[in-house]
Amino acid sequence: CPFTGNGDMRDLLGRTNRDWWPDALQLDILTIEGRSADPMGEDYDYCEAFNALDYAAIKNDIKALMTDSQEWWPADYGHYGPFFIRMAWHAAGTYRTGDGRGGASSGQQRFAPLNSWPDNGNLDKARRLLWPIKKKYGKHISWADLFVLTGNMAIESMGGPVFGFGGGRKDVFEPEMVYWGTEEQWVDTGAETRIQPDEGKALENPLAAIQMGLIYVNPEGPGGNPHDAEGMARDMRETFARMAMNDEETVALTAGGHAFGKCHGAKPADTFGKAPEGEALHTMGFGWLTDPEEIGKGHITTSGIEGAWTPNPTEWGNDYFRLLFKYEYELTESPAGAKQWTPIDPEEADMAPDARDPSKKVPTIMTTADMALKRDPEYRKISERFRDDQAALDDAFARAWFKLTHRDMGPKIRYLGPDVPSEDLIWQDPIPAGTQQSESVVQAFADKVLDSGLSISSLVKAAWASASTYRNSDHRGGANGAHIRFDAIKNWAVNDPEELGPVLDKLDELRGDISLADAIVIAGSAAVEKAARDAGFDITVPVTIGRGDASEEHFDAESWEPLEPFADGFRNYLKTKAQVKTEDMLVDRANLLGLSIPEMTVLVGGLRVLGAVSKHAEHGTSIGVLTNRPGKLTNDFFTNLLDMGTLWEVVDESGDEEFVGRKRGDRSELWRATRTDLVFGSNSQLRAIAEVYAEDGNERKFVNDFVAAWTKVMDADRFDLTYAKYH
Ligand code: HEM
Repeated sequence: CPFTGNGDMRDLLGRTNRDWWPDALQLDILTIEGRSADPMGEDYDYCEAFNALDYAAIKNDIKALMTDSQEWWPADYGHYGPFFIRMAWHAAGTYRTGDGRGGASSGQQRFAPLNSWPDNGNLDKARRLLWPIKKKYGKHISWADLFVLTGNMAIESMGGPVFGFGGGRKDVFEPEMVYWGTEEQWVDTGAETRIQPDEGKALENPLAAIQMGLIYVNPEGPGGNPHDAEGMARDMRETFARMAMNDEETVALTAGGHAFGKCHGAKPADTFGKAPEGEALHTMGFGWLTDPEEIGKGHITTSGIEGAWTPNPTEWGNDYFRLLFKYEYELTESPAGAKQWTPIDPEEADMAPDARDPSKKVPTIMTTADMALKRDPEYRKISERFRDDQAALDDAFARAWFKLTHRDMGPKIRYLGPDVPSEDLIWQDPIPAGTQQSESVVQAFADKVLDSGLSISSLVKAAWASASTYRNSDHRGGANGAHIRFDAIKNWAVNDPEELGPVLDKLDELRGDISLADAIVIAGSAAVEKAARDAGFDITVPVTIGRGDASEEHFDAESWEPLEPFADGFRNYLKTKAQVKTEDMLVDRANLLGLSIPEMTVLVGGLRVLGAVSKHAEHGTSIGVLTNRPGKLTNDFFTNLLDMGTLWEVVDESGDEEFVGRKRGDRSELWRATRTDLVFGSNSQLRAIAEVYAEDGNERKFVNDFVAAWTKVMDADRFDLTYAKYH
């Protein structure tokens, strides 16, 4: 579940940039009143601009940059490839399945807190090395795409296998608000990590790193303990699973990545400066400052670990596994004091070149995380297979890298450019193209549905259940594909499966040639239209058909598990009391649906009066339905919520989840409601919007706005329509 952890109540975002850097320039006061931080303007269409990119030319330029060593940050071994791979991996590696947030798709590594995470140490230099290319190609390539494309080019230029590249990641121009945890220190070696098996403490969802400021795990071992082999594998398995990677992908990625480059731990950590966000103005956004002379000599500290994994750090090959299994490794300490593993009695040919002087040989190393690939029995089996089968490693690494860097882009139609692989991959949730039907066929179906005896609320609930699986974070879910018909989704408690099952069966029976995905939306929208008509408003609820039905064979049930809502305030559903306030979870869900505050408000008010409420609540479907005429699309929810004749009291035992509304005079019971209902009366900002919808004369506005927000949710995943023009 996404919101229960083991700690106390927390607020939605945990520790934010303002907590970390209270003195930072507060530009967000300029983004109030809906003013955007994005300088590109409404007319700028990134996908169109990307399609006009001189793709061959930028690839050549990136390739040339690999070996164009700059004095201010010389390339180890004369090749920036490994450094750029780490940059791209860390850009993508923040992705987590729990809420689909993080990942490479918006160029977040440029902003705090990510630009200053200890694990992203010195990547400020990698990004700055790319600036001339970004400058040259300007609006045609986003930073987000450039990070990934550069990672690919780095692999390719060192002879590594690449599966493909899809462009289309549009930059944002402000830090995204993401929950990264609550700890008050970065990678606090003295403190507890997020997994404490002895205390039964699991990694809190949706987090995917073992400590604040890390992409995944501590390379020196759990809590810095290199002897805890079991714990190291546990931490890796858990954190990589949160990135949608299984054991084989984890081994391929880690070993494949560490075929390249080196770790940097030449000097103790206290010899360099602060992270970029906290540095002095004149350092121009650079952090972790070191004496330039020392940089020239290659005396750099990033992770604190020192050394390369292989004798050929700028060439793809199988030396990583060969060395891992050829030698016994002993625990040593880097000059910076980090725990690492060094081969015992290595042959000279198995030693690495010095990063600045190829004539000098230095010992190779393994981190404690690398050692897990041979110390953990499951990882070991895979590692041995890869050691003996280069082609298998090539294929597994190329595919896992492609998944790592594209996982958060959503359906394949969102990938642009000449290097998009033709093969469909199951994690892309492939959906066959839908069919078009005439308006009369659609109308006839809608009429049949309304005559079928299915209730307005059950039809609205079915359409909401289907469409609201969408997440704007990784663009997964949504009504297209009709994944809702698969038991694994249908049976989510939030969906009231005993009610939803027969509705879907009936729609299936009536739909004829219309896809089930379309049928669900048509039926729900027809129900909204009828509910508006019954309330006296003649309005058309627009429906755009053309959705396809995903096949069971192309449905990865396990990968859909994190999409199950722990709470859905739109349906007044809460699994159990959580660590985050229920209304925070409503806001979180609205954010994942890409909704504004008014859209969230009008949807809640409308869904309640339509009776689209989960039965899960103790008082059944009436909870939050603040109307005496359910099934009609009226603004009753807001007028009744704001009525001063009602006095609200807490009723549930856990303290503050359920409320009863009593008549002020005789105290007779009028309504039952939850936190996600009352928040529209108690929170001053939401109340201001609720007032607008309750006001006399705004009844039609309410209906219009509801229909617009409803349609937005129904169509949130229609990339088949919005992206068709780019292909
Ligand atoms: C570098 C740890 C997974 C690619 C490093 C460094 C550490 C590290 C400590 C040294 C950083 C420095 O001091 O400069 C880990 C751990 C992993 C992991 C603990 C997971 C358990 C990966 C993956 C990739 C990757 C999945 C890519 C597929 C690289 C590369 C470098 C590197 C290319 C060398 C960078 C350079 O030469 O500047 N890693 N890594 N790593 N990592 Fe990883």
